[in-house]
Amino acid sequence: MDTIRIEGGHPLSGEVETSGAKNASLPLMAAALLADSPSRLDRIPHLRDIVTMGEMLERLGARVTRTDGGLDIAPAGFADAEAPYDLVCKMRASIYVLGPLLARFGHARVSLPGGCAIGNRPIDLHLRGFEALGARITIEHGYVDAQAPAGGLTGGECVLEGPSGSSVGATCNVLMAATLARGKTVLHGAAREPEVGDLIGYLNAMGARISGAGTGTLEIEGVQRLGGCVYRVIPDRIEAGTFLVAAAMMRSEVTVRNCRPDHMQASLDKLKEMGARLEISGDSIRVVADGPLRPIAARTLPYPGFATDMQAQFLAALSLAAGESTITETIYPDRFIHVAELNRMGADIRVTNATATVRGVAKLTGATVMASDLRASAALILAGLAAEGQTEILRVYHLDRGYERLEEKFRALGAVMERVPSSKTEPSGP
Ligand code: UD1
Repeated sequence: MDTIRIEGGHPLSGEVETSGAKNASLPLMAAALLADSPSRLDRIPHLRDIVTMGEMLERLGARVTRTDGGLDIAPAGFADAEAPYDLVCKMRASIYVLGPLLARFGHARVSLPGGCAIGNRPIDLHLRGFEALGARITIEHGYVDAQAPAGGLTGGECVLEGPSGSSVGATCNVLMAATLARGKTVLHGAAREPEVGDLIGYLNAMGARISGAGTGTLEIEGVQRLGGCVYRVIPDRIEAGTFLVAAAMMRSEVTVRNCRPDHMQASLDKLKEMGARLEISGDSIRVVADGPLRPIAARTLPYPGFATDMQAQFLAALSLAAGESTITETIYPDRFIHVAELNRMGADIRVTNATATVRGVAKLTGATVMASDLRASAALILAGLAAEGQTEILRVYHLDRGYERLEEKFRALGAVMERVPSSKTEPSGP
């Protein structure tokens, strides 16, 4: 387990490139299993979650090869339609193989993902969608067993909304299964996240017939086969947003290149409200922040609302704003483990009923802190960059799941940070 050590207080400046989107890459990789010929997926980032998904596909008999620009995935030769616990427990998104396996082989057995640091994450909507396509679902011994009817999946109609709104994962999973079902499927309450749109782009390029991308209702006309193709994943809106928030927090001037500003509107609006100046030109966003940050009120919501994956980073920045801010979590009410760590660095944040109230403080001070999940790690990095003195962030393996070369990119912007083996500094305990 590595540690990241940061010497805070160095302003950022310059340009940084956005990598391909992790959350778009994962469903694309699973979707490659639906085809009967290989795909080349470009701009897939080098990340631990991508490696885990690659291992999962190989375990299922696919061939996955890293190329300069991305990944080649040859889906042929499946031996096994079972996704085992040892891989699913590493990454919840492994559940994405359920839809493609069920559609292609008529049967899939996938370990149930457990809970995780950001709270309870059920998969009932995924299963509801598969049942609407005629699958029989049983849950036994910690596994979901999904069985298609004798002639294969059939088109159906389903509402994919839960208490907190649409589900990205359920939409992607059921969408993948429906591409090869007989007849027409209509998914209501579908997630509108750009990552779903990217999956639709790839599936249609493989020969699927899906309409309604970007809306809450998707219509899928089942086809008999899909063929592999070349496809380029969208840029990572959360990574790009993380750099923008870092620059605003550090009162710096940074240009984030190669991103999709249209995918980041809610974050951009909040940054402007906080007093940052943004200049958008094509696929670049320049952020200039020179005055004190203003407080804001925000609620996380499904896209196009304010992303829950940006909550932790904004909380870090708001801890230095001039006044009191609030962020309410409507997607994952328990996703506030980073708050205790930010408070150890001098922030003043209280959480009541899924709302974090942040009283801006004059400064943060470096400390040894523990990363609890991917975006929490990013928030602690941001706090460390802004803090006085040295910060050590333990358990940064969470960071490696989702940010490509993050230290290198921050260092190129002028940050002073290094990665060190942490075996000597890791505290013991449960
Ligand atoms: C994806 C993202 C994650 C992001 C989240 C919300 C990936 C790999 N992960 O996760 O980074 O934080 O979207 O934008 O893309 N729900 C149910 N039943 C279900 C499924 C979900 O009740 O069957 C609930 C969840 O508990 C949550 C909400 O729906 O409250 C949204 O979850 P969902 O969009 O499914 O998140 P993921 O796809 O798991």
